[in-house]
Amino acid sequence: MYNIPLFELNFGEEEILAVSETIKSRWISTGPKCDELEKLFAKMLNVDYAISLDNCTNALHLAMRLCEIGEGDEVLCPSLTFAASVNCIRYVGATPVFCDITGYDNMNISPDEIEKSITNKTRAIVVVHMAGFPANMGNVNPLSATYSVIGRGFAKDL
Ligand SMILES: Cc1ncc(COP(=O)(O)O)c(C=O)c1O
Repeated sequence: MYNIPLFELNFGEEEILAVSETIKSRWISTGPKCDELEKLFAKMLNVDYAISLDNCTNALHLAMRLCEIGEGDEVLCPSLTFAASVNCIRYVGATPVFCDITGYDNMNISPDEIEKSITNKTRAIVVVHMAGFPANMGNVNPLSATYSVIGRGFAKDL
């Protein structure tokens, strides 16, 4: 059952203070807070580096570039989502392939639809945790593992 209130933001005094301190410091783009966030994020994920971006649209675009996705490639994405999850695929000249959602009780991309849509041109899957409702990665990740070719995305017919 979906029960995450979209507009009851969990912001308290701590967040207000942090924003206020940042504005007063005049570092409103990159700067010490940005550095702190990247370090904390890298620690949380147990990786060497993390890079923050100004918004999610640019992060998705960068992800496509880093995966070297481009013309002739297909990328699976949910049919119910925000435009950015599809725009990032088009920005690099690849073709979005829409997969239906699971249903009324789960508005995330359906793993069954993913499996049906994989071709030898599929290179990636954009999974959206729609409105804060986590997608079942336990069902999606095995599909990536089954069909992926190390370093070169997917290939169903290999
Ligand atoms: C699922 C999803 N992806 C990407 C974005 C884009 O985020 P941003 O506005 O930070 O570029 C949004 C924005 O609402 C979103 O809902």
